Amino acid sequence: MQFPEPSMEGPISVETALANRRSVREFADEPLTPDSLGQILWATYGVSEEGPWNRRTVPSPAAMYPMELYVVAGDVEGLEAGVYRYDALGHSLEEVEDGDLREEVAEVCIEQDWMAKAPAILVITAAFDRISQKFGERGVAYTFFEAGHMAQNCYLQAEALGLGVTEVGAFKEEHLMDLLELPPEHNPMLVLPVGWKSFE
Ligand SMILES: Cc1cc2nc3c(=O)[nH]c(=O)nc-3n(C[C@H](O)[C@H](O)[C@H](O)COP(=O)(O)O)c2cc1C
Repeated sequence: MQFPEPSMEGPISVETALANRRSVREFADEPLTPDSLGQILWATYGVSEEGPWNRRTVPSPAAMYPMELYVVAGDVEGLEAGVYRYDALGHSLEEVEDGDLREEVAEVCIEQDWMAKAPAILVITAAFDRISQKFGERGVAYTFFEAGHMAQNCYLQAEALGLGVTEVGAFKEEHLMDLLELPPEHNPMLVLPVGWKSFE
């Protein structure tokens, strides 16, 4: 899926997004649109300045960007259910695996069943080998910091769009890697179920 250009304007200030942001675990039964999913992915790890460094929406040690962002899609308009990798430079998705894996992801996240109702679940992974050559052990810590930047961006963008998200750190790492057919060098760091807030 090729996303439309991300929007650079929103309906609320960054201060309002900071003040109102909360973890959301109940979602409306409504699909994500390509616009909303693309915007969330861009805010979380998108390219904000094309050029020799292709700088992104998050800071990164030496602009190395050692993270990957995956999407477990279940209910997104125009997108088959499946697992996808976000191609930040192309602002697009490439398919990794087909089928709706949301229930399995929720189970691997220590049976947090509410997660399966999110139309899409983002998964942040880190490629330690990309960064530890330059920064050694410290590089491993850097990937945790970068994952935190990504998750916070995701929360703030979700708030601006009327979406809800929760940062999920409780999961069985190896099971999640198997389920999503992640390459062995991509370690899952955080899981972020995203959907429209439910007002019921
Ligand atoms: C590293 C980390 C891991 C978390 N893991 C989970 C989780 O597995 N499940 C969950 O429901 N919430 C999880 N949370 C969300 C916290 O429970 C939530 O941020 C906290 O209760 C404060 O609420 P607020 O985000 O609505 O302000 C996690 C938060 C962080 C920072």
